[in-house]
Amino acid sequence: TSREILSTIRHYCKKTPTTLRVSEAVSGAGLDTNIKVQGWVRSVRPQKTHLFLHVNDGSSLQPLQIVASSELNNPSLTFGCAVEVTGTLKRSPHQKQPVELEAHQIQVVGECDPVDFPFKIKERHSLEYLRQFPHLRCRTNAFSSLLRVRSEATTAIQSYFKKNGFVQIHTPVITSNDCEGAGELFQVEPSSPESNEDENFFSVPAFLTVSGQLHLEVMSGALSKVFTFGPTFRAENSQSRRHLAEFYMVEAEVSFTESLEDLTKVVEDVFRSATEHVLAHCPEDVDLFHKHVTPGHRETVDSMMKKRFPMISYTEAIDILNRSSEKFAFPTNWGCDLQTEHEKYLVKHCGNIPVFVTDYPYDLKPFYARDNQDHPEHTAAAVDLLVPGVGELCGGSLREERLDLLRARLEEAGLEETYSWYLDLRRFGSVPHGGFGLGFERYLQCILGVENIKDVIPFPRFSHSCLL
Ligand code: 4AD
Repeated sequence: TSREILSTIRHYCKKTPTTLRVSEAVSGAGLDTNIKVQGWVRSVRPQKTHLFLHVNDGSSLQPLQIVASSELNNPSLTFGCAVEVTGTLKRSPHQKQPVELEAHQIQVVGECDPVDFPFKIKERHSLEYLRQFPHLRCRTNAFSSLLRVRSEATTAIQSYFKKNGFVQIHTPVITSNDCEGAGELFQVEPSSPESNEDENFFSVPAFLTVSGQLHLEVMSGALSKVFTFGPTFRAENSQSRRHLAEFYMVEAEVSFTESLEDLTKVVEDVFRSATEHVLAHCPEDVDLFHKHVTPGHRETVDSMMKKRFPMISYTEAIDILNRSSEKFAFPTNWGCDLQTEHEKYLVKHCGNIPVFVTDYPYDLKPFYARDNQDHPEHTAAAVDLLVPGVGELCGGSLREERLDLLRARLEEAGLEETYSWYLDLRRFGSVPHGGFGLGFERYLQCILGVENIKDVIPFPRFSHSCLL
């Protein structure tokens, strides 16, 4: 009868455990039912009659406490091993965790040699130590928290642009242009050692992209507001704490824009909405960094979020540096590029919050930057955002949309032919436009207070290092 069938189904459902993520279980989903969790053992505490385990599967910082009879203990149940646990999820008598899993069965899926495993139970390893194990560091609390924050920030940035009418463009990774003209290109070579230059795969020199800007400019000439968010490559021979050979850049381009303020508003909004989202969606992960990695950084983040970002001109910045009593290693005369030490000083001077610096000397900026012809000094309508702990986070500019001025600058650099397609954009329906690029890893450094950029990317690439 149908009643019997229903009762069999109920009986079956009771018996068959539902597989839950640890985050679901710790939030109380499946309370008083039979559940199964799969993950890695984060602590083992055998006691006289009972065994206590912490198991995590990376879905949240908080592990699930497992309580089992000592009979379920076995020698392969060690820190780091992979397990599948079934049991009944119960409200916990302890305050530290709201629920615990009373295990009926614990199966070790993959053993983990506790002697060779580089991480030790209850030990807090430094980020520098973890860096030696790019294939294993995601097993630690700190690095899995970082990965969840990175993922949430990615979602937040994408959704900011979507909400604000931008179209996402997949700009190419392989390109024949050197957008920045800084010569930091990785050339794409044919793999066969026998192939000679005439047999170059693309028939032209091709490189890994240093910026998707020029491709975005093409698209903004039809879609008005566009963005891209992808890997970017620079052959910078730098061992600094804020440079990578492969990093992720958020770039946007906006047509019909005539002032730097329009651009800085977008930059500030992206920064704020991503940060608000991360603070709201992974507060425990962010706290781990603010409490244990850089104590006190939370106040810096809170003050960044409270105040509007000030804006000063490059000329004012130079004045501030020259009036300070600080001894800088690099020169601070008008026309010099701002170095990290200058950027950090300017941030401190402005109250340790992000600050926009605008209108750089024209000769410091690439060919595409718009000439500020109405300024007494020869400047370009370019802007950088400098942030606490990092220095430059973002660089942008209005682009030179006037055909004659752009052609003259390209001619001077001997690039008129190379960029004839770029000049076409000015010949056919040119509009005032501008855009920016924001370094995603530097953004993560800034909100989490992480000193070294190698600790905020899954697999860092830098000079003399390409592990895995
Ligand atoms: O200032 P950059 O070089 O600007 C551009 O590439 C523009 N074409 C972007 C645009 O307008 N669409 O780079 C932008 C940002 C920097 O402010 C910095 O945060 C980051 O990219 N960046 C790096 N991050 C990590 N490692 C490196 N080697 C970086 N180089 C730049």
